[in-house]
Amino acid sequence: MTEPSFLNIGRGLPPADSISDLPDWKQAQPAWIESALQRALAKPSGGWFVVDSKRAIGDGPKHYRIDGQEYVVWKAKSGVAVAPDSCPHMGARLSDGFLRDECVVCPWHGLALGEEGLGRWQPLTSYDDGVLIWIRPESGGDATEKPMLPARPDPYFDATMRLEARCDPRDVLANRLDPWHGSHFHPHSFGNLRVLEKDDEAITVRVVYRITKRVGMEVDAVFDCPDPRTIVMTIIRGEGVGSVVETHATPIEPGRSAVIETTLATSDRPQFLPFMRAFGRFVRPVIEKRARRLWVEDGAYAERRYELRQGTDSG
Ligand code: FES
Ligand SMILES: [Fe+2]
Repeated sequence: MTEPSFLNIGRGLPPADSISDLPDWKQAQPAWIESALQRALAKPSGGWFVVDSKRAIGDGPKHYRIDGQEYVVWKAKSGVAVAPDSCPHMGARLSDGFLRDECVVCPWHGLALGEEGLGRWQPLTSYDDGVLIWIRPESGGDATEKPMLPARPDPYFDATMRLEARCDPRDVLANRLDPWHGSHFHPHSFGNLRVLEKDDEAITVRVVYRITKRVGMEVDAVFDCPDPRTIVMTIIRGEGVGSVVETHATPIEPGRSAVIETTLATSDRPQFLPFMRAFGRFVRPVIEKRARRLWVEDGAYAERRYELRQGTDSG
């Protein structure tokens, strides 16, 4: 399909000679997507799950359900803490309580619980990577001291969104391992998407990020999965080289997942950091809104994939 030309306001890219003329539906290979997915699923997770962005933890206790368990998350003395969302006294939901002196106060009888725990009620092992909060519910097996963090740019400007979808984490990864849907399914955001190369587990694309219908920034980006619940897009040529989009899929329960996507933007342009310092608070909601819009669509894709799997594959 020949797409309309556009004005590239980013940096020029070298010509690419390995681009197929086949229509996208012929290039999109379900067998490649499945084998790349299986490679990702076989990687170790270290037992870690992303909870949410650090910024999402506000001034009160917050409830999360992760892998079938209920947690309360709050800002404790030494950082964000995560603990079972059930009061050790009579089981009230602590996330319905409030914070006092960096402790969670139970809404039923006022017991104040801090990060030091009380008896069998103990906070979980958690990790703050500067942008995201992770938990490691189990300590045995292949548990690692820290999550498997993808390479991140330095410095970066971060923006994170979270939404839920009726699917498993593997459906979220499978969506991103299919770049061929990009300019068809999200024509408002992507154009001229072409696959440059792929190996067993990574795929490199050239794509225009649309700013308006005819104006955009063309970049080359590679997608790969560092662990069984994460897929990372890294810009390797064009504007913003080194910027990444980390998409993390956390199981809520079978057939339900949270998608936590963080954009870590960088640039070697000298104006980048001063601009972000001055206007970051306006830019962040714009990036988050755009990511959410894409994930409303990609969530529908992942949910459809989950539905199809229910007919042919028990998961
Ligand atoms: S149930 Fe929490 S203090 Fe009683
Ligand atoms: Fe998509």
